[in-house]
Amino acid sequence: MRVLGIETSCDETGGALVDSDRGLLAHALHSQVDLHETYGGVVPELASRDHIRRLLPLTRTVLAQAGCRLEDVDAIAYTEGPGLAGALLVGAGAAHAMAWALGVPAIAIHHLEGHLLSPLISEPDLAFPFVALLVSGGHSQLMRVDGVGRYALLGDTLDDAAGEAFDKTAKLLGLGYPGGPAIARAALDGKPGRHRLPRPMLASGDLEMSFSGLKTAVMTLVRGQRMQAGGEDAALPAQTIADLAAEFQESVTDVLAGKAIAALDHTGLSTLVVAGGVGANLRLREKLDAAVKRRGARVVYPPVALCTDNGAMIAWAGALRLKAGAPEPNGPGFSVRPRWALESLR
Ligand code: KG4
Ligand code: ZN
Repeated sequence: MRVLGIETSCDETGGALVDSDRGLLAHALHSQVDLHETYGGVVPELASRDHIRRLLPLTRTVLAQAGCRLEDVDAIAYTEGPGLAGALLVGAGAAHAMAWALGVPAIAIHHLEGHLLSPLISEPDLAFPFVALLVSGGHSQLMRVDGVGRYALLGDTLDDAAGEAFDKTAKLLGLGYPGGPAIARAALDGKPGRHRLPRPMLASGDLEMSFSGLKTAVMTLVRGQRMQAGGEDAALPAQTIADLAAEFQESVTDVLAGKAIAALDHTGLSTLVVAGGVGANLRLREKLDAAVKRRGARVVYPPVALCTDNGAMIAWAGALRLKAGAPEPNGPGFSVRPRWALESLR
């Protein structure tokens, strides 16, 4: 079975074709980072318009790379939510139009389920159950995954998501958008510990997280450093920015790694899967690798290119859903779900 996957929930247009026996055949991505950079964050209306421009050419590229025609596709998976309503509507509209014309099912996928199952793209034999650390721009969650559609929430952030904290802190430090890669780059020249930040809720004894206080702590440090450099409008020395970025990265990754290991302890499971954009962070990976090794457990990551939003994870989740029971071809109507709790999935 060949499944075309379409992702348009935020600022990346993603397309991919998977074969349920042969795996990922082709995928393509268009990032809108340049489009939103000047605004320091995603502008929803611009995002929707750009998805409209990019989606069909990108789909043609994917099909050409895979050496397939649209008529060879057995189902079309698309992100139904959560995400930006207008952006989701572009992908959902295109997926339903193509599926209806071809007489094949359109499969609605939860964006986070896509992230959660993405490590199976490189490790199709990965056995359930496992613990998943889902860390993206909108989510920081620990889930117990017992199978496709069987997800139990173990812990969540009480405020900002980890990726959101990276993005807001990068903005504070003048490092630009998206913040995660910018902070990781700046941290390479910095020394953690020169400016001390807290490790929020690391010792709370549960699996909850909180990252908004960290951003406030960085803000206070930035103010103090500016005053030392000559006044509240003074530019921060490059070394101070690098040191703050390094300490911030150290703090977030200490908390994420600590909580992920605590979730393995709590569930008694020995496989950890990391998904979502922050999963691309190499310092996080170093810490998790070391911690699971000490514990005799294992950790599985999607390839770095498939950590952030992409069409492959949507196509893959669609193929798994199709295997579990093919939906009927749909009529012309469709909807999107900008807000959608993962635990409500079946
Ligand atoms: O999963 P994703 O592409 O989109 C959402 O569903 O949110 O995640 C994007 C988030 C952004 O907040 C970005 O700053 C963060 O992932 N990110 C990183 C890194 N690469 C992307 N955070 C830390 N380190 C990275 N290398
Ligand atoms: Zn995502």
